[in-house]
Amino acid sequence: MSVESIETNPLRALSPQDLRAHAAEALTRARERSVALTDIDDEELVRQHSKLMSPLVWDLAHIGSQEELWLVRDVGGREALRPDIDDIYDAFQHARADRPELPLLGPEEARKYVSEVREKSFDILENVPLQGRRLTQDAFAFGMITQHEQQHDETMLATHQLRKGDPVLHAPAPPSARSGRLPAEVLVPGGAFTMGTSAEPWALDNERPAHEVAVEAFFIDTTPVTCGAYTEFLDSGGYQDPKWWSERGWAYRSEHGINAPRFWKREQDGWWRTRFGVHEKVPAAEPVVHVSFHEAEAYAAWAGKRLPTEPEWEKAARFDPATGRSRRFPWGDEEPTPEHANLGQRHLRPAEVGAYPAGASPLGVHQLIGDVWEWTSSGFEAYPGFAAFPYREYSEVFFGGDYRILRGGSFGTDAAAIRGTFRNWDHPIRRQIFSGFRCARDARPGEVG
Ligand SMILES: [Fe+2]
Repeated sequence: MSVESIETNPLRALSPQDLRAHAAEALTRARERSVALTDIDDEELVRQHSKLMSPLVWDLAHIGSQEELWLVRDVGGREALRPDIDDIYDAFQHARADRPELPLLGPEEARKYVSEVREKSFDILENVPLQGRRLTQDAFAFGMITQHEQQHDETMLATHQLRKGDPVLHAPAPPSARSGRLPAEVLVPGGAFTMGTSAEPWALDNERPAHEVAVEAFFIDTTPVTCGAYTEFLDSGGYQDPKWWSERGWAYRSEHGINAPRFWKREQDGWWRTRFGVHEKVPAAEPVVHVSFHEAEAYAAWAGKRLPTEPEWEKAARFDPATGRSRRFPWGDEEPTPEHANLGQRHLRPAEVGAYPAGASPLGVHQLIGDVWEWTSSGFEAYPGFAAFPYREYSEVFFGGDYRILRGGSFGTDAAAIRGTFRNWDHPIRRQIFSGFRCARDARPGEVG
C-alpha cells in the first residue's frame, strides 16, 4: 500500500463555493483574534513589552503586509497598496529588538491598512479560480495566510504574557479533568508508520511529503508533565545539580540564573506564577508551561526518562494500530472541536491533564494537540523529498539551525494552524512561548508485548 493511497484530502469533497466559504471563515476567525489582541490602549500597542518581542502594532501591520504580498499582489495580481512599507514589515530585514525604532504605521493607520487589505482579499477569494495553479489549489494561499495570522496571534498572546500591569485579556477556565486515573505511560509498538503528509491541503512545505519512518518500541507519557510533577524536580534541587543537565543546558541555566519555569516565583506557601497579569498559585494538575528545551531535557533525565524524538511523537499522535494508518489528528480525521482539545485562545491557560478524553489517540495518549507545545529531542530537518514552497524563507533556510522541534500546539494556537503533522521549531533556550513537554523511554525487551 503506498502512503498516498491511505491519505485523504478533506477539502476535495467541498464544492468551490463551500471551499471559498471555508477559507473566508478561517480568515475571519483569525482577524477576530487579531482585533481582540490589539484592542488595548495605543500606548500599549506601540510599546515594546520585551526585547524578545515586537511591539504589537508591528505584528498587526505585518499580518496585513504578508497578506498584501501573497493574496493581493500574487494571487490577485492587483496593484500594490503600500509598496513603501514592504521593507519595514519584512521579518528577515529587522530583528524583533530593533523594530520599535522603525517608522511603523501608528495604531489607527495599521488598523485601516489591514482592513483595506482584507477587503481586497475577500474580493479575490470570490473571483480567483481555486485550481490550475499550485498556490490557489484547494485555496492554499488563503490557508497559508490564515495560518500566518494565527501564528502571529499566538505570538501576540505571548507578548501579552510578558506585558506588565493589570489583566486586559479574559476567558473562561478550561474544563477540569474528566478521565479517571490514567496510566503514567503508554507503549507505542515498534515498526514503520506514515510520517508527514502529501494530501493535507493546507499543510506547509516542511510537513511534506508523506514518507515511511520506522521507530523502535518505546513508552511515552500519557499526558504532558504537570506543574505538580515539575515542582518535585524543583524541590529536590534539580536546578542546583548539574548531573541532570546537558553541558550546554547547565551553562545556560547558570549564566541566566534560571531557577524555575519562567513567570514562577517561590513564596512562603509554595510556588506562584503570573499568568496574563493574574498572580496565582501554580496549579498542580496543569501541564507545566514556559520551560525551555534545556529545562525539559533536565527534568526528563531526573525522571529516568528522555524526551521523545519527533518521529516518536508523531507516531504516538497519529498511528492507528487497528488499520496501520496515520490519522490527521489523534482522535481521527475530523477537525478539532472544543471536546477534543484546548485550542484557539478559548481559555488562557492549559487544561488539567485528563480534561480531553475525546481527544486521546488510539493508543491512549492524551492532550497531544492543544494545551502546551511539546519539546522533542529532534532538530529541524527536511523530510526526504522536500521541496520549498512557496518560498525558501518559509522553512528551508532554517533547516539544520540551532533549533528543536515542538509539536502539538498550545491553548494559544488556533485549530487552523495545528494538525498531527504540524512542525514548529525554536531555539532550545526559548521559554516565553507556551512550551511544555512529555517524557518517553525505550521499551526494555520483556516489556514489548
Ligand atoms: Fe510573519
